[in-house]
Amino acid sequence: MARVTLATARLVLREFEPDDAAAMVELNSDPEVLRYTGDKPFESVEAARRFLEAYPDYRANGFGRWAVILAATGDFAGWCGLKRVDGEVDLGYRLHRRFWGAGFATEAARASVAHGFLELGLEEIIARAWAPNLASIRVIEKCGLRFWKLARHFDTDGVPHFRVGRHELAPELLRSWAACQRTPDTL
Ligand SMILES: CC(C)(COP(=O)(O)OP(=O)(O)OC[C@H]1O[C@@H](n2cnc3c(N)ncnc32)[C@H](O)[C@@H]1OP(=O)(O)O)[C@@H](O)C(=O)NCCC(=O)NCCS
Repeated sequence: MARVTLATARLVLREFEPDDAAAMVELNSDPEVLRYTGDKPFESVEAARRFLEAYPDYRANGFGRWAVILAATGDFAGWCGLKRVDGEVDLGYRLHRRFWGAGFATEAARASVAHGFLELGLEEIIARAWAPNLASIRVIEKCGLRFWKLARHFDTDGVPHFRVGRHELAPELLRSWAACQRTPDTL
């Protein structure tokens, strides 16, 4: 049983498990999901399982990307969370296409931001989104991040970067995004 990191009204965000491999393969097999990410499909379920077994972020940093699970059904919707890269903490997410458009990314990303500031004591969270990825930019903005700069990312110049500092978001707002944080003994 994986340790649950946080939960929202409709979602549970928990650490990846090796048994998420098939769902991760399916996620990265959809060209629409990968379109603006620079990610590649996994070569096999075994390769995805090895990736998940070796996933270093929780141990190294105390946080990472988390599996996003629908609380009502237990479905693996995708992933969302925080990743330390080159001294910065990056907000990111990917959802299976069948779960787009229901506000799940915003809900998971806001919980991640709230957790980062309230529980982890981070000073700043950044995000990057290719300019045509309007859905992702909307999610980023709904998490309180604002345009910061155009910079290089994954061998591409001019990628929009966004940022927010801990003190730029009211604690009450953050607490409302994190209102359901708990460690349920189910799932
Ligand atoms: C980005 C992604 C996670 C969004 O997931 P989602 O669950 O549909 O997001 P939400 O429903 O929480 O919010 C999407 C917002 O974008 C808006 N939106 C969606 N498509 C849009 C478009 N083409 N133009 C403008 N706004 C758009 C929605 O209306 C919604 O805003 P609203 O709530 O104010 O109406 C999903 O599209 C995805 O997994 N994409 C592939 C992976 C990816 O690109 N990840 C980000 C890499 S930077």
